Amino acid sequence: MSLLIKNGRIITASQDYTADIFMEGEVITTIGKNLRMKADETINAAGMMVFPGGIDPHVHLDMPFMGTFSSDNYETGTRAALHGGTTTVIDFVLQTQGKSLRHALEQWQARANGNCLGDYSFHMAVTDFNDNTRLEIAEMVDKEGITSFKTFMAYKGALMIDDRQMVGLMQEVKKCGGMVTVHATNGDMIDYLVAKHRAEGKFAPLYHYLSQPEITESEASGRFADMAIYTGVPGYIVHMTCEGALNHIRDATKRNQKVFAETCIQYLILDASLYEMDFEGAKWVMSPPLRQKKDQASLWAGINQGLVQVVATDHCPFKWEQKKMGEKDFSKIPNGHPAIENRMELLYSEGVGKGKISLNKYVEVTSTNAAKIFGMFPKKGCIAVGSDADLLIFDPKEKHALSAATHHMNVDYSAYEGWKLKGKCKTTILRGKVAIDNGKVCIPKGYGQFVKRKKVNGII
Ligand code: URP
Ligand code: ZN
Ligand code: ZN
Repeated sequence: MSLLIKNGRIITASQDYTADIFMEGEVITTIGKNLRMKADETINAAGMMVFPGGIDPHVHLDMPFMGTFSSDNYETGTRAALHGGTTTVIDFVLQTQGKSLRHALEQWQARANGNCLGDYSFHMAVTDFNDNTRLEIAEMVDKEGITSFKTFMAYKGALMIDDRQMVGLMQEVKKCGGMVTVHATNGDMIDYLVAKHRAEGKFAPLYHYLSQPEITESEASGRFADMAIYTGVPGYIVHMTCEGALNHIRDATKRNQKVFAETCIQYLILDASLYEMDFEGAKWVMSPPLRQKKDQASLWAGINQGLVQVVATDHCPFKWEQKKMGEKDFSKIPNGHPAIENRMELLYSEGVGKGKISLNKYVEVTSTNAAKIFGMFPKKGCIAVGSDADLLIFDPKEKHALSAATHHMNVDYSAYEGWKLKGKCKTTILRGKVAIDNGKVCIPKGYGQFVKRKKVNGII
């Protein structure tokens, strides 16, 4: 099977030019002007931009969490991702405390394998680091191609580990050639504030926000960076939201330390005023919570300063019925919001379209940097001969509005209902096959493959 894309404006992390792309089987074999190869299928991309397929390294599909499961499974979630131009996602396997990493991996494989339309990989979330877990780290890296280990400094009593476990894990992961990633907020302090607000009879979604002030995130981010430099392990902070946390990353660079930072689309464009709307604010109850306008400004600047390398989603959708589990108590609202399908279009429209980031930066933060940081480059994250033919053909001029009535995520509301955007995903290609064409799904469930990742060294 061969496919030829003619006359597209090809945008990578460093280039911007018009040419044709020829792919045979799953990979790109030729890029050039006026290619005359005979192809099984030809797409005229004149007037369109061609980006590397999006990589979202932070999603939660079919995840058991807070007494329920996130509402997108591997089929609906990866299909929605493809509709939105994202060809590869990295999800999180969650260790059950008291059980092995292998046990957790088998559970997640049973849910994901054979069900994905898009390509996927796993981070391993270590929630119980002990002498047995220590022995499994090398096996995850060398045998399974799982090279990033997620930790939670929050969700006390459920997923949180203490600093003793963190340092031990970091030393082991460093030895094995992996990376430690973190949900960096101070779990003890949040636990105290949640209990205090509940004791005072304060149960509205607003108190979710007020239980996680900026300092809980900046303190934990600094502590994580300090432990990472002490152990020498490459570190990555997920879903960074605020100026205070970013300042700790900036400080780390002054001592020549690289701690990668990811923000998510919602923290760039939404703010905490949404929590002032009674229970409707539950749509945006996530951890960390949305912040202030000044934090948005810091994050955009952090992207342009190279301090924030990735814009992900932390896609963790719950239907309205599920959100209502916390109608009487904010601490019972399942945390998370849907965005896997919206990230590429929102960031283009709000970022590139409004002059906040360049086109090359857009590709860096939506695809290339994640591929490099997580050991998938140059298979993924670029448009180059020999790379997987994962491409997004994008119309930069088409105007449209986001809505739950038209999205493909398995959730009955949109966190961006009515948002008017300029720029639309038209055709998504995954490993040389048209996956989505003008809203039509062209590949079956099971086409998505697990991506084994290489060791990482913290340099991109
Ligand atoms: O609210 C969130 N972020 N839900 C998903 C779990 C996590 O902390 O990433
Ligand atoms: Zn988190
Ligand atoms: Zn998450």
